[in-house]
Amino acid sequence: MFDFLKKLSRTTTNPPLPQVDMHAHLLPGIDDGAATMEDSLAMIEGMYDLGYRHLIATPHIYQEFYPNTTAIIQEKLQLVRQALTRKGLHIRLDAAAEYFLDDHFDKLLHQDDIMVLPGGYVLIEMSFVAEHPNFRQTLFDLQMKGYKPILAHPERYPYLNQNILALENLVDGGCRLQLNLLSLLGHYGKGPQLAAERLLKHKLISMVGTDVHNIQHVDLLAQLHKSSAIRRLLKDYDFENSKLV
Ligand SMILES: [Fe+2]
Repeated sequence: MFDFLKKLSRTTTNPPLPQVDMHAHLLPGIDDGAATMEDSLAMIEGMYDLGYRHLIATPHIYQEFYPNTTAIIQEKLQLVRQALTRKGLHIRLDAAAEYFLDDHFDKLLHQDDIMVLPGGYVLIEMSFVAEHPNFRQTLFDLQMKGYKPILAHPERYPYLNQNILALENLVDGGCRLQLNLLSLLGHYGKGPQLAAERLLKHKLISMVGTDVHNIQHVDLLAQLHKSSAIRRLLKDYDFENSKLV
């Protein structure tokens, strides 16, 4: 009887991961993500197989390297949606952007030319070398305009990821923090992995994202989905991914 209970508890301790991904480089040929339409479709199909049912593509808008615009992203989104329909793959695909904080972003914000995730969230990132000099002011400006800023992968910024107090201040100031799932596998190194665990422990993470750029990332994601330890770790958190409707 005890064996039966043990077996039952093993089979019921595989909690689901969020079915909504809010950070992924799935649109072809416009940043360092999917290079071709075939790549895009293979990545999306792989994520569908892992249980994802709503994907939000977030190409970089980084004027110096990926000078994307709302129009470019919308056009690519339509092309991928059409290809998914032809393939018979029924998955919801939307698009926003991952905005690099720079003067160009300030200009876009001033013009209200911002692609939001459902719910008015805006995904932002900054340099891995140093904090954006006007970071706090930009967060304030975003919120004054009614946007909800989300800082992508805080565990990956070496100048920030150890500073729990600074991260708490950001959260208290209305900036949500989004963890990259692959950080938990150590994909970006030991530092980000430990920081990711620490940020979860401190309940500072509002959302999780895959940040997949290629099919290898989707394969890694499959490893993560198979990890009972990671699934159990994440099940204790009420991420806002499900609010992205
Ligand atoms: Fe990204």
